[in-house]
Amino acid sequence: AIERTFSIIKPDATRRNITGKVLSYLEAAGLRVIAQKRIHMTKEQAEGFYAVHKERPFFSDLVTFMTSGPVVVQVLEGEDAIAKNREVMGATNPANAAAGTIRKDFAESIEANSVHGSDAPETAKQEIAYFFKEEEIVG
Ligand code: CMP
Repeated sequence: AIERTFSIIKPDATRRNITGKVLSYLEAAGLRVIAQKRIHMTKEQAEGFYAVHKERPFFSDLVTFMTSGPVVVQVLEGEDAIAKNREVMGATNPANAAAGTIRKDFAESIEANSVHGSDAPETAKQEIAYFFKEEEIVG
């Protein structure tokens, strides 16, 4: 089915000016950008976005990293968009990411791993709504 998913191009990628390179992988995977903006997350925004991880040992470092520079937040649409996006991103830890994936080719570390993508339809819906109004999404 045609799905929507939520994507972030993270601060390690904006810092290296490779947002276009990352986007080209997403597009080549069959995903279409139907909303996109560049933002600098506040601490409160990052903490809220990653609230499910708040008990994890890496939480405060993650919030510091995600607020260390601009990010590009996106809504992606396509056939099986959630799974396709996860496939083209590769494993969370770039050391485990498959050849040809974004994280294998660009990520610096498990934390500075260049991209985020929703893991399920329910989280996609929540994450899209966290950053975008319905009228900002042009499918
Ligand atoms: P993301 O898909 O954005 O979801 C949570 C993020 O936490 C993850 O990508 C990584 O950037 C970051 N992270 C940092 N350390 C870890 C870890 N040990 N395990 C999982 N995620 C981690």
